[in-house]
Amino acid sequence: MSGQSKNIILGISAGIAAYRMYDLISELKKLGHNVTVVLTSGAKHFVSELPLKILSSNHVYCDMFSPEIQNKPVHIELADNADLVLLAPATADIIAKAACGICDELITSILLATHVPVYIAPAMNTNMWEHFTTQKNIETLVTKLGYKIIPPEDGDLACGYSGVGHIASNEKIIKTILYGDSETKPLLGKKIIVTAGGTREVIDPVRFIGNKSSGKMGLALADTANSMGAEVVLVSTVPADRKYQVIEVESAQELQEVIESEFDRADALIMAAAVSDFRPITTSKQKIKKKNEDITIELTRNPDILEILGRTKREKQVIIGFSAESENIEKNAIEKLQKKKIDMIIANDITIPDIGFGSDENAVTILTRDGSKEILQRQSKVQIARHICNKLIDIFETMKETKKHDFNKK
Ligand code: C5P
Repeated sequence: MSGQSKNIILGISAGIAAYRMYDLISELKKLGHNVTVVLTSGAKHFVSELPLKILSSNHVYCDMFSPEIQNKPVHIELADNADLVLLAPATADIIAKAACGICDELITSILLATHVPVYIAPAMNTNMWEHFTTQKNIETLVTKLGYKIIPPEDGDLACGYSGVGHIASNEKIIKTILYGDSETKPLLGKKIIVTAGGTREVIDPVRFIGNKSSGKMGLALADTANSMGAEVVLVSTVPADRKYQVIEVESAQELQEVIESEFDRADALIMAAAVSDFRPITTSKQKIKKKNEDITIELTRNPDILEILGRTKREKQVIIGFSAESENIEKNAIEKLQKKKIDMIIANDITIPDIGFGSDENAVTILTRDGSKEILQRQSKVQIARHICNKLIDIFETMKETKKHDFNKK
């Protein structure tokens, strides 16, 4: 058994995967834990109170106004006595309610009333899982509330679809809630620098040369890497209120200084920021006055940060760059990948309307140094960030394998 017996609140919502909770309760009981089941009103269509009661040896709660607990309101009593809350299966609906703080179900009221760790095992149709709103809600639960997601898996779904949406196995759920983070935090122990936003090259106290980058992709990457356990340093031109380290910068030179001071101790750099290639040679201390003649601002090249680091990086450090282009997208990205000697590049076509700059969505092609290519159709930047982080995990894994291999050769 993992440590002491835990009081686990199991919130079951209205999904077909609810039937798997019969086994989950038995397994948790066998491991010596106390499980109290809270059903949503819809969950009663999928599981019955009586077997849940017998398997858990506890009263099964459903009603906000249950008379079972006398001294305190039922949601407060249950919240105060819990060591952890598990929502499994978690439907798109209950996830949305949890993200918005809606308390029309006993389980969502408990979520608001408790301070203990909350684990969510989503299960739903692939389209519902991939829907922008669900992904946004998941992002809120992870980044703002610190909930831990036990991701749904790829498989044949009861609704007839084949894709992501299958609830994680009971084994995985138990491992995650009892034995900690290694299952859900594959980037634990890795330090990752993520850059976000667009640099501003100052002309005078009111003017600058900038670009259209909103920083959304970089932020999504930093949040995802953080939720996967990485120690994140976000170097950003846009303010971000996060629990991990955020260093605000303005110009390409400031960005370069921060990255160079952090990179030696980093395992990876994800360069999502749009860095200005040029800066004014001189910066005016006073606002440049309007005159009746044209003015010329002389520009000088900014150093290519990726190219410098790609040349000098240690073998085990991973560098990921971005390539926004309006033509020859893939060809140009491959050239940059090779020229900058980086491990992966994310290419996107900035001419496609509605996506990319400033949008919550994008469509990209991921190219790696070993020649792999993956096209991600239009989807949220959060989903793209997850793909990129998973690819990064693959690269770390391959490095481990290679090291083992080299060691065996000696
Ligand atoms: O060559 P290009 O500027 O298109 O490459 C884009 C990639 O290079 C991005 O990842 C960007 O952050 C990075 N970059 C850089 N230093 C610059 C310009 C771009 O590291 N001066």
